[in-house]
Amino acid sequence: MEKVLDLLTRAFADEWLAYYQYWLGAKVAKGPMKEAVIAELLQHAADELRHADLVSNRIVQLGGTPVTAPKGWYDKTNCGYDAPDDPYVTVLLEQNIKGEQCAIGVYNAMLAATRKDDPVTYNLALQILQDEVEHEEDLQALQEDMELMVAKKG
Ligand SMILES: [Fe+2]
Ligand SMILES: [Fe+2]
Repeated sequence: MEKVLDLLTRAFADEWLAYYQYWLGAKVAKGPMKEAVIAELLQHAADELRHADLVSNRIVQLGGTPVTAPKGWYDKTNCGYDAPDDPYVTVLLEQNIKGEQCAIGVYNAMLAATRKDDPVTYNLALQILQDEVEHEEDLQALQEDMELMVAKKG
């Protein structure tokens, strides 16, 4: 159980950082198709916060305590935090695609670790993984549309 709690704790830190990265990205985004990008970032932010909620519930169920202070997120995170210092939409999309790819790896590892003897955590990881895969696809679709638009103009 210690190992699963550790995986959940790290994922919990990732979710909060992902939430903030999306939330702030939506505030500062600039560039072509800005409205569509902002709508997508906001939707993802809401999903990541929901994931943090789900993961923390499971941590508590297993007798653990979710990271109690935000500075702890940095100690525990797998995927880190990419500050949206450059608010240009293509940069934001690139950063967030990288984050989603990392999250997909995190939940795949959680699935592998819980497959045999922890069906509850397994189901949770599967449910979240489905969202992360969809997030990656949505961001890549936006990126593609943007490239087509730029190609047409040029
Ligand atoms: Fe997430
Ligand atoms: Fe995500």
